[in-house]
Amino acid sequence: MTDKKVTLTLQDNASVELDVMQGTLGQDVVDVRTLGNHGLFTFDPGFTSTASCESKITFIDGDEGILLHRGFPISELATHSNYLEVCYILLNGEAPTQAQFEEFRTTVTRHTMIHEQITRLFHGFRRDSHPMAVMCGVTGALAAFYHDSLDVNIERHREIAAFRLLSKMPTMAAMCYKYSIGQPFVYPRNDLSYAGNFLHMMFATPCEEYKVNPVLERAMDRILILHADHEQNASTSTVRTAGSSGANPFACIAAGIASLWGPAHGGANEATLRMLEEISTVEHIPEFVRRAKDKNDSFRLMGFGHRVYKNYDPRATVMRETCHEVLNELGMKDDLLEVAMELEHIALNDPYFIERKLYPNVDFYSGIILKAMGIPSSMFTVIFAMARTVGWIAHWKEMHDEGMKIARPRQLYTGYTERPFTSALKK
Ligand code: SDX
Repeated sequence: MTDKKVTLTLQDNASVELDVMQGTLGQDVVDVRTLGNHGLFTFDPGFTSTASCESKITFIDGDEGILLHRGFPISELATHSNYLEVCYILLNGEAPTQAQFEEFRTTVTRHTMIHEQITRLFHGFRRDSHPMAVMCGVTGALAAFYHDSLDVNIERHREIAAFRLLSKMPTMAAMCYKYSIGQPFVYPRNDLSYAGNFLHMMFATPCEEYKVNPVLERAMDRILILHADHEQNASTSTVRTAGSSGANPFACIAAGIASLWGPAHGGANEATLRMLEEISTVEHIPEFVRRAKDKNDSFRLMGFGHRVYKNYDPRATVMRETCHEVLNELGMKDDLLEVAMELEHIALNDPYFIERKLYPNVDFYSGIILKAMGIPSSMFTVIFAMARTVGWIAHWKEMHDEGMKIARPRQLYTGYTERPFTSALKK
């Protein structure tokens, strides 16, 4: 808290003094919690100017294009760390010692199998179900199997549920893919890395040995790091809201998956690839850029723009480098990458995008890398959900550790005033 205050002058010239709270980084916030006592609410649909909570996990500076996880810059984590170490940092606040990391990695590794009966849940879905629909369903259903870690008021239950979710999301994600192509599920292997195990469960078959390509393993690990957490985005806010009612962790994460699925959020990577495929050649780009600027056309450039970043998304920079590494390793020349690079160049020099500070975001390049790895676009947001699970859990855990009130926003009511009811129905 600071000793700074703001004074609000009300209609009847009365004034209200509100405290200004200051964080370690970023904007100060006006504490409006007492405003209701003066008969006023704040109005902020979409929460463009609202801090919904206090957090120590991730800091974003949209103007400077800065992203810190517990103070560590994302570019340094993506270059020098690995996903499980980043998970430890997000969940515990500090980088692990070697011994702490080994214990953490062993715990995660030893919980990657799912209850054998859960595999039958997959068979209740059509083979052509969108994998995100399956992930929503199966993740929520974990609460039906793991009764012993559902009391959110017990810290040990919260810890067990966190490890179960972190460990089992890759297994369930790979099962979504295997089920969709009619191949048998592949069990997790304890001798592989988190990213390597996921690739093995995605692409191994009983017919021959599948060797994980170390370049693809590193690229997948980096994609997971870049998607791990991102402050109070829509899906994380959904998890916090669900968790504020005391809902069990599996239900909260299922709610986060549902929110992430939207094309304005985590579904943008799949939508970006579909857009690049629809554009298909560099010659078609001007028409699509025209449409993106046309207010009467609902088309938007997927993978561009961000509520917070009004500068280059620092994750997009790393994703772009990774994209080139993977395509070079695979000896692939991807026409879509050519379209993406030209689209980026055109948009970054177009006044419409410059004025609105619309830059490529994390979703712009990830789809091209995942497609080059042989992963279908329907699985892109599933991989985003798998990576973001640790961020959702970290915020859910922080909310419980700090103590919380149920999230219950108010509204500006513009409906009917009271009126008598007369039914027109025949008695
Ligand atoms: C993610 O919040 C997070 O942190 C999310 C995320 C995370 O890690 O959790 O970073 C992941 O969701 C990244 C964003 C992925 N979404 C997309 O790529 C979809 C395309 N982008 C847009 O839908 C949009 O940019 C949003 C939703 C991302 C942000 O929208 P805002 O902040 O609500 O901004 P806005 O819609 O008010 O747009 C401001 C202006 C408008 O024009 P004007 O009315 O001022 O004339 O910019 C225009 C918009 O029309 N605009 C675009 C555009 N994005 C915004 N015009 C064309 N193409 C776009 N992509």
